[in-house]
Amino acid sequence: MDHFEYRNGQLHAENVAIADIARAHGTPCYVYSRATLERHWHAFNDAFGAQPHLVCYAVKANSNIAILNLFARLGSGFDIVSAGELERVLRAGGDPGKVVFSGVGKKSAEIRKALEVGIRCFNVESEAELDRINAVAGDMGKIAPISLRVNPDVDAQTHPYISTGLKENKFGVEISRAEEIYLKAAAMPHLNVVGIDCHIGSQLLTLSPFMDALQRVLALAERLAAQGINVHHLDIGGGLGVRYREGQEAPSPADYMAQLFTDERLRQYEIFVEPGRAIAANAGILVTEVEFLKLAEYKNFAVVDAAMNDLIRPALYSAWQEIIPVIPREGETATYDIVGPVCETGDFLGKERDLNIQAGDLLAVRSSGAYGFTMASNYNTRPRAAEVMVDGDTVYVVRLRETLDDLLRGESVLPA
Ligand code: LLP
Repeated sequence: MDHFEYRNGQLHAENVAIADIARAHGTPCYVYSRATLERHWHAFNDAFGAQPHLVCYAVKANSNIAILNLFARLGSGFDIVSAGELERVLRAGGDPGKVVFSGVGKKSAEIRKALEVGIRCFNVESEAELDRINAVAGDMGKIAPISLRVNPDVDAQTHPYISTGLKENKFGVEISRAEEIYLKAAAMPHLNVVGIDCHIGSQLLTLSPFMDALQRVLALAERLAAQGINVHHLDIGGGLGVRYREGQEAPSPADYMAQLFTDERLRQYEIFVEPGRAIAANAGILVTEVEFLKLAEYKNFAVVDAAMNDLIRPALYSAWQEIIPVIPREGETATYDIVGPVCETGDFLGKERDLNIQAGDLLAVRSSGAYGFTMASNYNTRPRAAEVMVDGDTVYVVRLRETLDDLLRGESVLPA
């Protein structure tokens, strides 16, 4: 459930009319709902009951520091993939002791920074990375807490670009080799083996791939224990899908945990989970204004002021996100492709949408809170959109719209 709904014929975020936000802050503009973000975070946290656990919000989904700060206040952990994301977590007041560091290409400087601030665990994705972390930790006179990201070779049945748990994917180490690599890690002087990590993909709408992966991870934990390596936590990654369109059913965090905990063996571990999309996606919308209607015999286009540089999911994954009018009109609809001003045929936000719209109208692209702004670019020298957060009756600008000066900062011409 989210807090974007029509009241008195106008779309609202909590108690604020979206049209008022667009008037005050311009378009395109990302609008987030605090109540929705917190509700979704609590849904994960509460799903564990008394089980020791840590919700590590996946920062990549939406890394605005206002959002990270809300979760930090709730005591959240964070899943990061770069020194940049670590910096955001720290500036947002997040506890470094609740940070897990994922990603296949951690640089030595990033590892050093993470050790300096004392993160909870490195999710290690290769043998070469083990050597690197061991070396950096040794240099600093520290012991690095690690888990191996294992690739359980299960099919997440999601879009190939966001599926990560198959053996042909670049992520993690093959589970068949995990024992051998764990033994190697356990023998390294500057590493402390604390967990097993697994993340099989994103936007999963069925629970069986998670269950299959979990069975393989639990079996591995048992084999490791037989060899004298006792892990403290299991990190089950992120990946729980959300409802992007009417009729699509996504399991709730409570359903998900209930299913996982049908295997009682899970109870002996602290469980980490790394949700991104399931927390942030439906807590945000992208608001855009219709610039022109272009009516042709073959097709109607609505040219709007948001583009693929603002929201790339439709172009990159053929993702379908709902597009709704901010102030619906009575009467007949027509069918439009909703396209941006960028010079690419792939620049669309939605295709064949039935809408009754005119130039100057506002549209909202729903489910844009995750992998929206964080994947935005400046392609076509387009400043990135403003981001605002609604909290009850109040609107806070949590990121100013970029200016052309922001965009050109750091560039220079050759001397004359
Ligand atoms: N943990 C790890 C190690 C990950 O790689 C990811 C996402 C997550 C957690 C969070 O997954 P989530 O709960 O959000 O599914 N840009 C794509 C999604 C890429 C996901 C990358 N990894 C999209 O817009 O659909």
